[in-house]
Amino acid sequence: MVTKIKIDPITRIEGHMAIEALIGDDGVVKEAKSAGTLFRGFEIILLGRDPRDANRLTQRICGVCPTAHATASALCLDDAFGSINKIPDNGKLIRALIFGSNFLQSHILHFYHLAALDYVDAVSVVGDTAPFVPRYEGDYRISGEANAELVNHYLKALDIRRKCQEMLSIFGGKMPHNVGIVPGGVTERPTEDKITNFLWRLNEIRDFIDNVYIPDVIAVAKVYGDYFEIGKGCRRVLAYGGFDLPTGKLFEGGIVSPDLQPEPFAKENITEDVKHSWYADSSSGKNPAQGQTKPDLKKKEAYSFLKSPRYNGEVCELGPLARMVSNYVQGDAKTKELVDSLLGQVGAGIDALFSVLGRHAARALEAKLVADAMVDWLTYLAPDEPTIVESEIPEKGEGAGLTEAPRGAVGHWISIKDKKIDRYQVITPTAWNASPKDDKDQPGAVEQAIIGTKVKDKDNPFELVRIVRAFDPCLACSVHLLDARGSELGVFRVV
Ligand code: NI
Repeated sequence: MVTKIKIDPITRIEGHMAIEALIGDDGVVKEAKSAGTLFRGFEIILLGRDPRDANRLTQRICGVCPTAHATASALCLDDAFGSINKIPDNGKLIRALIFGSNFLQSHILHFYHLAALDYVDAVSVVGDTAPFVPRYEGDYRISGEANAELVNHYLKALDIRRKCQEMLSIFGGKMPHNVGIVPGGVTERPTEDKITNFLWRLNEIRDFIDNVYIPDVIAVAKVYGDYFEIGKGCRRVLAYGGFDLPTGKLFEGGIVSPDLQPEPFAKENITEDVKHSWYADSSSGKNPAQGQTKPDLKKKEAYSFLKSPRYNGEVCELGPLARMVSNYVQGDAKTKELVDSLLGQVGAGIDALFSVLGRHAARALEAKLVADAMVDWLTYLAPDEPTIVESEIPEKGEGAGLTEAPRGAVGHWISIKDKKIDRYQVITPTAWNASPKDDKDQPGAVEQAIIGTKVKDKDNPFELVRIVRAFDPCLACSVHLLDARGSELGVFRVV
């Protein structure tokens, strides 16, 4: 007999995602469906608008990762306006500092507030109270003082996240939806005062990452070691590359094949399939530069509002795991040192990164990589130098802005006609990771990570939620407008 488990919603915040798994008598998942259950219509909202609106409006796709959309849209407009190679060094550095602040906040949010309660028994410390219940019961393996300390860190992480947001606001004005990152560079100038205010917060955050976050991930890994074997996924990783600095990129990006061979990346090889998505079949298989957003709610085979992005027709995983593996195989010394050191402490090798715990480890190490680099970026700021270059909207043009968001590679594509937006397409990292099956019926990255997993207790499917949450899905980013009346598909209202 096959049992169907449906977890809806599966994410603690960040939008509406449902997971459906068909489990055989042996407890093993035979089939899995990952679904985004809301429609995001930003591509349609942007049509006919001033291209610069994209930089403001796409940040509203998501309150968790607006900085990713601020950065990708600014790069996209820089490309279309012809200013991509003219951004002043200060502009690049301050963009990176704003985005880096958001990276740190997001990674700490994910581990402590979105994922840790799958491993840490908060109820035994603070009682049977929200937000710690409802929850699955059974597999909490840490107890006593070690468990109480992790619960304390859950609270401390809230304070550290606040400092990350304050840090972002020094140059970005506010969070969410910063006003600092704009086409051509940034609006804010660096001053000694701002640099000092940024640095003391950054040093406190670095101390937390080094002495709390990374040790906590190792502590969890030592107790839940079997999760280095669970949720391997497709093993093909993709990073566009990100953090454009005067001296190059922090993340070079690229593809890494399942046997850990680096391969070059070209954005022309990206396509989006829609066979199993609520979009018109005529829009399937297109590169986002020619992409369309045409909802079709009557499709029988569809089960998600996410499209299925693919690279050369292949399923790819994106995110910290992808970036760390990509940096590692390309020989980045600091990445190699961090990864080998952490995995050495739990007796694992590079292959172990392809797992539930591997994804948490990659995210924690990446936080350190970014936080340490940010100290250098601050020292390169030149208070008297410009931060922005003037640019003009062309009558006609095209652009693409590809970068790395906390959850993985993010891309924006624009076509301009008569100085207005004629086409806009956004592909988020969660669209890749949580995509439904594609036109060849290949399951998406999360679906592949679930299929083949043994679920010990069907009433408390810890394995499934731990696998999915380790990807840090952001469905708010991937889908958006709400269908006001679930039963009357086809009627949409902006909320
Ligand atoms: Ni998001």
